[in-house]
Amino acid sequence: MIYFDHSATTPIHPLVAKKVNNINRIHYANPSSIYSEGRKAKSLIEKARTQVANAIGAKNTQIFFTSGGTEANNQVLWNKLNEEKKHIIVSSIEHPAIIKVLKNIERYGITASFIPVNKNGLVEIESVMKLIKKDTGLISIMLANNEVGTIQPIQEIIENTKSLNIPFHTDAVQALGKIPIDVNSLGVDYLSLSAHKFYGPKGIGALFVKNKKKIQSLIIGGDQEDGLRGGTENISGIVGMGLAAEIAIQNQQTCSSHLKNLEKYFLDNLKSNSPNIICNSINNLPGLISITFPGFQSDILMAKLDRKKIAVSNGSACNTGNIKPSNVLKAMGIKNDLNLSTLRFSFGKNNTKDEVDKLLNALKEII
Ligand SMILES: Cc1ncc(COP(=O)(O)O)c(C=O)c1O
Repeated sequence: MIYFDHSATTPIHPLVAKKVNNINRIHYANPSSIYSEGRKAKSLIEKARTQVANAIGAKNTQIFFTSGGTEANNQVLWNKLNEEKKHIIVSSIEHPAIIKVLKNIERYGITASFIPVNKNGLVEIESVMKLIKKDTGLISIMLANNEVGTIQPIQEIIENTKSLNIPFHTDAVQALGKIPIDVNSLGVDYLSLSAHKFYGPKGIGALFVKNKKKIQSLIIGGDQEDGLRGGTENISGIVGMGLAAEIAIQNQQTCSSHLKNLEKYFLDNLKSNSPNIICNSINNLPGLISITFPGFQSDILMAKLDRKKIAVSNGSACNTGNIKPSNVLKAMGIKNDLNLSTLRFSFGKNNTKDEVDKLLNALKEII
């Protein structure tokens, strides 16, 4: 299979896979156990915490591990139930791990406002400012979108809202390894990560929390993760995430320029083969582009590519198999017929020009 769906998930890096296997075989002791093997397991977790912290410019005490990006986002939102200010502002193009959570917590007195985006999928600062109320207790805007790749001006938005002391969360699940992330220059209070988006294992993620006193556990149980996440730690996942984060940061520039080159090559050739395609991605993450093929249904295009052993997506992974128009494209003002004619291509570090040529040829034949 030729794989162009890296925003859904990435193949695990061979060094990470090897490490994960070794940990599972050798370091099976419970990290809470006080004998030496338990302490060794604990020290492996702490090393991984430092690796993840270093990847985003955080202190290791500001990182705790979760089961993934979904749980990290949930923890930040559900935490608002314990606080006085119960109004939350989010962008209208957030992942379901934000939008659907809000729908669930509304019944406990949380109110939500959705920031519109412009036709390029960008949140404008004025639109955020207009929604702020006296009881706004959280603003959550993703660093980069998972369907069109738009990188949001988080730093500028935070500079504008700083004086109001409203906690700020960003879902950075798609961004790590593709653009530099520094929690201090961004100015965020919370930031969500997921290992399987940067060649790490699935089922493991992390939440950066600037001040741990301001958040409570979502998964109640033992005192693991400084009391912020109960449950025996997924040691191999955590160690795999730490290594994947370290590798992703070391290779970020090389990887991003490779992805940008593939994207440009693909787009230039696609446009010359099919001049009426529309590219919906502007100011996007390297290698993540959304393309509309007017007159073609995305699910059929996808199935035809699949028959040629090429994997692409028609939206976020969570919406795959679901032919409802994408909410992200809808928020960008894209009409239903074009919305349903849109594919997402997300390139990865191992993709080659030769594979992109095969994709171009396949699309040429199908179209
Ligand atoms: C932007 C964004 N947030 C959150 C998630 C969920 O992450 P996980 O799969 O680790 O739960 C995803 C995964 O598709 C995502 O793209």
